[in-house]
Amino acid sequence: MARVALVTGGMGGLGEAICIKMAALGYHVVTTYSPGNTKAKDWLATMEQQGFKFRAFPCDVADYDSAQQCVAQIVNEIGPVDVLVNNAGITRDMTFKKMGKTDWDAVMKTNLDSVFNMTKPVCDGMTDRGWGRVINISSVNGQKGAFGQTNYSAAKAGMHGFTKALALEVARKGVTVNTISPGYIGTKMVMAIPQEVLESKIIPQIPMSRLGKPEEVAGLVAYLASDEAAFLTGANIAINGGQHMY
Ligand code: CAA
Ligand code: NAP
Repeated sequence: MARVALVTGGMGGLGEAICIKMAALGYHVVTTYSPGNTKAKDWLATMEQQGFKFRAFPCDVADYDSAQQCVAQIVNEIGPVDVLVNNAGITRDMTFKKMGKTDWDAVMKTNLDSVFNMTKPVCDGMTDRGWGRVINISSVNGQKGAFGQTNYSAAKAGMHGFTKALALEVARKGVTVNTISPGYIGTKMVMAIPQEVLESKIIPQIPMSRLGKPEEVAGLVAYLASDEAAFLTGANIAINGGQHMY
């Protein structure tokens, strides 16, 4: 039977590429969208035209109860989740001087609390069944820090702390937990950066002189989800065109 892969934020730039890659590999792909997202039906229809029949469920990943209800519905209607990709995320970029508590909280809740909220209802099932994959999409800016991103860099760095601790706890149960830290990928999140900042401050820092492609990150997700990657856990894999090496 096909494994079930749950990708949060699958209708965004990276998420869509991950959904497509996982579906092409034969996974039963399920995704989530924000409850207020009015374009979800259109996205599902467009994907179906391209030959991908995804299931999508409304879920505010920042909200614990919403996440529990969403996963319960998925398990009930589709089956247990074998692969969880914690991909949904937001930015609220501004200098620390200008940052208010609301901007801090929104980013922490959506990028970091969400990892707890979504992993909690799937993890025991994975360990009970003796197989599972949790893949957390962090960022190069969680590794190196970024101007205007004290909130985002903190949340993304926190994701990897979670990865390492949980990886230790579930390693003996056939479950791996890993972090992927992409550099700048050409999605709407990056296109929201002022063009002048992108050209003068960001691209020059990337030795490959280009943005990454969502498909390049999706390929790495697929590898981490595979049986071949069974010995790989607690890692933070950078995919950033050489922007940050450590
Ligand atoms: N490095 C160094 N200095 C910078 C800088 C940078 N990256 N960005 C801005 N500055 C400087 C400016 O040159 C300016 O200096 P002066 O006062 O001496 O002129 C000062 O900081 C203030 O700049 P702004 O007037 O632009 O300040 P602002 O408050 O309007 O905006 C900002 C600041 C929000 C950080 C804006 O510059 C910005 O959006 N930067 C891009 C942030 C970024 O890279 N976000 C990544 C989003 S994509 C993502 O997050 C995906 C991922 O994981 C990789
Ligand atoms: P994107 O196109 O803006 O997509 C973000 C996705 O997150 C959307 O599908 C959005 O769903 C979902 N989302 C946001 N808040 C949510 C919430 N509260 N509940 C449920 N879903 C929510 O961004 P992206 O570039 O694909 O980024 C995907 C992930 O990769 C993020 O975690 C981001 O931090 C990380 N990342 C991106 C880059 C990059 O360069 N693009 C680099 C490193 C890391 P709705 O549209 O339905 O709200």
